[in-house]
Amino acid sequence: MLTLRLTVKESKPSSSVPHRDELRHFGYGTRRMHLSRRRISPVQTALCAGLLLFFAAWPLGCGGSGGGAQEKAPLPGRAEEGKVIFMRRCSLCHGEDGKAETPSGRNLAVQDLTETNWQKATPDEEIAQVVRHGKDKMPAFGRHLSAQDLADLIAFVRTLNAL
Ligand code: HEC
Repeated sequence: MLTLRLTVKESKPSSSVPHRDELRHFGYGTRRMHLSRRRISPVQTALCAGLLLFFAAWPLGCGGSGGGAQEKAPLPGRAEEGKVIFMRRCSLCHGEDGKAETPSGRNLAVQDLTETNWQKATPDEEIAQVVRHGKDKMPAFGRHLSAQDLADLIAFVRTLNAL
């Protein structure tokens, strides 16, 4: 409060026309400010966007097993729900039992998902990656599946090796 009053008092006596104009300009943004604003604006925008993205992705990156900004934190998979999706979308090639002993499965040399070695060597994130984006002749399903669907599918795929 004290400093404010002092500033007001000081500025009053020296309120000649040009000086006041300068002050006004400064208040609303001087020419220099306008220029610098114009120059920095795209950079600021990029920085803001970057920061927003960074913070938006932060909890996901920390909670999940990595991946892009679209990745969701791992959800608990429900094998029963996954089975329904698998039968509808995957069994044509992979077979209802995951062994890929179907005509399409044989033609495309589809991976036997019940193989213990494959199960052990393949982390969930890799399964998610393949199902989302496809691999060789395996089509991408990312557009058709929610994060929950994906988690459910992975949970079901894991039951295929309950031997
Ligand atoms: C059109 C046939 C087809 C359909 C439908 C299909 N797949 Fe595949 N899938 C393949 C082929 C071919 C491969 C082998 C890809 C390779 O490793 O070259 C494969 C591989 C995989 C693998 C193993 C990937 C790896 O890296 O070892 C998984 C897991 C998988 N599929 C899951 C699914 C799931 C889940 C669905 C349903 C959402 C599905 N697939 C639907 C053809 C298919």
